Amino acid sequence: MIKKAVIPAAGLGTRFLPATKAQPKEMLPIIDTPTIQYVVQEAVDSGIDDILIISGKGKRAIEDHFDRNYELEAALEKKNEQALNEIKNISDLAKIHYIRQKELNGLGDAIYHAKHHVGNEPFAVLLGDTVVRSVIPATQQLIDIYEQYKQIVIGVEEVPKEKVHRYGIVGGEKINDSLYQLNEMIEKPSIDEAPSNLAVASRYILTPDIFKALEETKVGKNDEIQLTDALKIFLSRGSVYSYTFEGKRYDIGDKLDYLKTTVEFGLKRKEFKKDFLEFLKEIIKESEER
Ligand code: G1P
Repeated sequence: MIKKAVIPAAGLGTRFLPATKAQPKEMLPIIDTPTIQYVVQEAVDSGIDDILIISGKGKRAIEDHFDRNYELEAALEKKNEQALNEIKNISDLAKIHYIRQKELNGLGDAIYHAKHHVGNEPFAVLLGDTVVRSVIPATQQLIDIYEQYKQIVIGVEEVPKEKVHRYGIVGGEKINDSLYQLNEMIEKPSIDEAPSNLAVASRYILTPDIFKALEETKVGKNDEIQLTDALKIFLSRGSVYSYTFEGKRYDIGDKLDYLKTTVEFGLKRKEFKKDFLEFLKEIIKESEER
């Protein structure tokens, strides 16, 4: 049973400046809901009730968001019961804990901060700036594979060759169309180095073995301790599987992806769909005429 999740959310968000100068990228809203709330909800929907958020400088808004806000609740008490319930529900979603990553030494270092909290249990990792829309929550899909093999499972997706340099890329023996047993992992390779076009896609099920591997991991790409490098070290000792989960991934840390996400989610909202679609058609027509 996987009951704990770790959500790294300490990064600076440099790809999204100036919006992230004084607010966490994880709090950027998709319409009305902060990105990290979708991520926490995915963990909860996957049966997880204990979440550790790796926080850092300038990330206070995340803690406030998942806390009670009595003043706001009192103000909504008589006026808007629906909003009141929504606000209260956010603070009841899960047991959320925080630890601060004081120096930004990379994703691997962020995960190492969870060592004490997760103890001797397997745990899920969900990157705090990425939302996945799917029928079965992506984390739940990975947990199902973990339950079968009891080994580390990494969520992956196929990416075009020209984008492999942006991701951790895996290589391995095919078990079926969605499942591979890995024998290679490289963080942000060039097209020539990449063992495949299967990219690490923001969701992992890890076992505590990863902490030992992280202790041995040297500084890698971008002068950071990379989780991918620790997983590569672990590959020589144990099995790692990759699973192409069903679902669509939205990277909120990237400006163009964020824009696309907002439009797509807007079109999926019943209350906006009709008006928003009409508006989009109109502006597309206008920009084509220009
Ligand atoms: C991180 C990981 C990388 C992974 C990516 C998307 O990179 O290091 O292996 O492919 O997330 O999940 P980042 O986007 O933080 O540079």
